[in-house]
Amino acid sequence: MSDTVPIEHATWLRSGDFTEADEPLRLFAAWFEDAKKAEPSDPDAMALATVDADGLANVRMVLLKGFDERGFVFYSNEESQKGRELAANHKASLAFHWKSLRRQVRLRGAVTTVSAAEADAYFATRPRSSQIGAWARRQSRPLESRLAFEKAIALNAAKFGPVPRPPFWIGYRVTPAVMEFWHDRPYRLHDRIEFRRADAAAAWTKTRLYP
Ligand SMILES: Cc1cc2nc3c(=O)[nH]c(=O)nc-3n(C[C@H](O)[C@H](O)[C@H](O)COP(=O)(O)O)c2cc1C
Repeated sequence: MSDTVPIEHATWLRSGDFTEADEPLRLFAAWFEDAKKAEPSDPDAMALATVDADGLANVRMVLLKGFDERGFVFYSNEESQKGRELAANHKASLAFHWKSLRRQVRLRGAVTTVSAAEADAYFATRPRSSQIGAWARRQSRPLESRLAFEKAIALNAAKFGPVPRPPFWIGYRVTPAVMEFWHDRPYRLHDRIEFRRADAAAAWTKTRLYP
């Protein structure tokens, strides 16, 4: 960024990329479309933060598998660390970082599980190898050796014709009460917009935050 225009006169200082900024879901949809075009891999990757029984935060990446006015959906193993944490505390935070676009979206809210029918429908779209893997993976528990894992995969591959969804493989939906959009601007004078609502039926209020 050149300093030929003094900062107090710079047009870029006025706002970031919030062209559809009155409704966060529409804005997210627009940014997600941009990310699908710009990101070389996993534009749908998001950091999922939960807390354990001691209140210690835990964060890991998951993939966004759908979003609409009800919330943001990912799939996992309910017996995993995150599954146990979400069963005890039905709240989570998600963060997307689209590096190529220099944009971040954060959201926080209550977590519910998706219906069995919805999870079945998504599981049915997975490749057979992923479906078998879902049965073989005892996610977050100690694995004696890679060989033991190979055996579990072979056993499950032999066991099934069409592979049903494992009952422990479920979908989670985060319904945001807060959504924040952040866009990089020169000299760390970034632009941030936060949307808040009291509950899922309430209207969003929008606030610009200092970067
Ligand atoms: C890009 C990326 C996407 C991932 N997507 C998922 C996912 O959708 N679901 C999932 O259970 N784990 C996913 N993982 C693995 C998790 O980050 C994590 O290792 C695993 O879920 C166990 O976490 P836990 O022990 O906290 O439950 C992904 C990892 C990466 C790096």
